Amino acid sequence: MSGLQAIRYSRGKLEVLDQLRLPHEHHYDLVSTAEEAFDCIKSMRVRGAPAIAIVAALAHAVELHNGSCGTSSAEDTVSYIDSRLDYLFLSRPTAVDLGNAITSLKAVIREHSSQGKDAIIAAYIAAAEEIFRKDTETNLLIGEHGAKWLMANAPIKSAEDKVSVLTHCNTGSLATSGHGTALGIIRSLFTGGDLHHAFCTETRPYNQGSRLTAFELVYEGIPATLITDSMAGALFATRKQESSIAAVIVGADRVVRNGDTANKIGTYALAVLARHHGIKFIVAAPTTSIDLQTETGSAIKIEERKPEELTQITGAVVGTDGKVDITRSERVAIAHQDVGVWNPAFDVTPAELIDAVVTEKGVVEKGASGVFDFRDIMPERW
Ligand code: MRU
Repeated sequence: MSGLQAIRYSRGKLEVLDQLRLPHEHHYDLVSTAEEAFDCIKSMRVRGAPAIAIVAALAHAVELHNGSCGTSSAEDTVSYIDSRLDYLFLSRPTAVDLGNAITSLKAVIREHSSQGKDAIIAAYIAAAEEIFRKDTETNLLIGEHGAKWLMANAPIKSAEDKVSVLTHCNTGSLATSGHGTALGIIRSLFTGGDLHHAFCTETRPYNQGSRLTAFELVYEGIPATLITDSMAGALFATRKQESSIAAVIVGADRVVRNGDTANKIGTYALAVLARHHGIKFIVAAPTTSIDLQTETGSAIKIEERKPEELTQITGAVVGTDGKVDITRSERVAIAHQDVGVWNPAFDVTPAELIDAVVTEKGVVEKGASGVFDFRDIMPERW
């Protein structure tokens, strides 16, 4: 298990690694209220669908533990918790994990509503902690299932019977409570001796790939190469035979009922390229990222973010000797500041371009109808 931790928690205390300062600086922010969690999520100091949900759930657990709830009746306590969760729900719209976590937490407090305020609060805190604990367990299973599926279905392997893969955005320990989803599969391939080489995209405009995934790959000692998003086509076309890419493995912010998947902007383009080159396209997603209420991807709300994410960039200063000075970070303009900008944070990959959705409950492939059917792995929510 990786030593990297985006979220550190003990009852009454939540610390979140400020991912805007990575890869140069490791700084944990104390997050003790729903307002601080909202700001941490909105400003992208924490990102990744599972991590966002965990931080929101635990931040409210911390404020409850610290006595934020001034109600006396059970009914008012339920309303108070509901209102804090409804507020946190508005922090980012596309990832469904947050909404799913909130729905399950609201159900838990209702189950204890006849037992009074203290029981409701205790049940909430235990349920939020369980979401955090369970996430790593889930990711280890995703890693195992995904690695096994790919080794059985890879269109091409190296002479040593290993696979090379490309991943996009960040889906590792930093986007989850540990191990990761798509990056968890890569980690499992590596520890199982099945990984030839991993490529990761830079993931413009927010550079989750170069700032976070590249960092995790180096940290883990996984053989890896960074490319810009625009190099994927050339990578697929020029790598021959045993060094060819066998699969693109990505995470998900929301997989809807038919399998259409919202993920970091650029995912759709990679899926089109993968299909053209006969490369497997795998979505790694815990069932908490699956939204059975939404029929198709066209109904997913895509978050649009501010223009400065394209026109400006922050980084550590590089001295004239070529060395990175981690004590000095600078924000610089990289485009005309008056240019019009379109900045959707996510796109939707249609189910037809996805070969497999890997969950903790197993791998789902498309049926004869060409769409995914999650009934077998999620009968209780179907
Ligand atoms: O905008 P972000 O950084 O929160 O987007 C993250 C992604 O798109 C991830 O790929 C996705 O949430 C899966 S995280 C396991």
